Amino acid sequence: MANDISDNRFDDALIQAPDPHDKQRRAFLTKVGVAAAGVAAAFVTVPAIAFLLGLRKSPSSWRSLGHMDDFKIGETVEVTFTDPSPLPWSGVTAKTAAWLRRKNENEFVAFAIYCTHLGCPVRWIPTANLFMCPCHGGVFYGDGTVASGPPPQPLSTYPVRINQGLVEIQTSPVPITTG
Ligand code: FES
Repeated sequence: MANDISDNRFDDALIQAPDPHDKQRRAFLTKVGVAAAGVAAAFVTVPAIAFLLGLRKSPSSWRSLGHMDDFKIGETVEVTFTDPSPLPWSGVTAKTAAWLRRKNENEFVAFAIYCTHLGCPVRWIPTANLFMCPCHGGVFYGDGTVASGPPPQPLSTYPVRINQGLVEIQTSPVPITTG
């Protein structure tokens, strides 16, 4: 019985004995945790601050859509181009599209395919001369203005130019309405 008591005291002493490496381990893990939190915070805040300070310009560039003779006056066709800010893992999703309309001999207009209500892609219905949005029934006229439904504003447009016979579109992550 006396032996049992002394054994229990010995076990208690073993359990409560401070591990000499425990303090160092905790300090190390604390440093790792603080460093990880700092890296995570930097990932979130640095781009936001750079954007607010205007250091990170939104990429935009002119991209060829084809020779102007490939497009008939009065017709609206779908054109595809590469997104101006694709991510390395984007793959085919880096391709985006617009609706290109040749207004006359020298004038083109490129509409964003995204509905101005909640962003669904609109379809061009040539027989009706209308853009239709399948999500909530938004309808746009051929010039991009709202015909009916919930869209609050006309379709966004991209700047378009003719450069040495080629129709070029100025792409940017968010289409800029030119008029
Ligand atoms: S997203 Fe087009 S009508 Fe709602």
